[in-house]
Amino acid sequence: MSTATPPITVPTLARKKSKGEKITMLTAYDYPTALLVDRAGIDVVLVGDSLVMEELGYDSTIPGTMEMMLHHIKAVRKGVTRAMVLGDMPFLAYQVNADEAVRNAGRLLQEGGANAVKLEGGEAIAPTIRRIVDAGIPVVGHIGFTPQSVNQIGLQKQGKTVEGAEQVLRDARAVQEAGAFAVVLELIPEELAARITAELGIITIGIGAGPGCDGQVLVTSDLLGMRPERAAFKHVKQYAQIGSEIERALNAYREDVEAGRFP
Ligand code: KIV
Repeated sequence: MSTATPPITVPTLARKKSKGEKITMLTAYDYPTALLVDRAGIDVVLVGDSLVMEELGYDSTIPGTMEMMLHHIKAVRKGVTRAMVLGDMPFLAYQVNADEAVRNAGRLLQEGGANAVKLEGGEAIAPTIRRIVDAGIPVVGHIGFTPQSVNQIGLQKQGKTVEGAEQVLRDARAVQEAGAFAVVLELIPEELAARITAELGIITIGIGAGPGCDGQVLVTSDLLGMRPERAAFKHVKQYAQIGSEIERALNAYREDVEAGRFP
């Protein structure tokens, strides 16, 4: 009989919420990072479309495609044995119509090996969430600041005005009503995130939304300090300075070779 820890499922996460245990989510885009994140006991490994910026160097997530996402989800899947693998739906993979959305969500599970999918939007996208859930695919919503709409909403905190906060609340309710099992709350005031968490039955995962959520997510390269300039982001806590350490090692190698000390 195997003694391995059982994989994290939707019911596992729901039980954690009901017991008041915090849920952890981090991004991974490749096999070695996935191995480390899984070994660290993180509950959910998000193959976020932030990979389009963080890994592929674009200046927004808009150029993301299904092929890019599948390529990275497959690699992450190979490195994860315990955590839930959550695949992000890229721009235009679910906005055109619900049939395409179901097909693309299904591809992330069938071809990529994801356990669940995440997509951005509230009230406007709720009917699509319902269709995907009805196909047997677990869905995580994503509201507040939604990076794929950056050209419409700008790069700023959402829900700061009374009307803005009401819209975020309506979005949260719509995502729950549509059958999502969790929702990411990105860049909204912490009181609003706490209010949504208290009101909703589904799991809330915050990023730049304060401590009152059921769980937290960060971009792993941010918390590792891969790019030291990211320390300026208020919602990021750098737990290491890997970027400068890599730079130091690379320079040391170059100096050794140039000076004839290596090999
Ligand atoms: O793509 C991503 O990494 C995300 C997180 C920031 C929540 O959506």
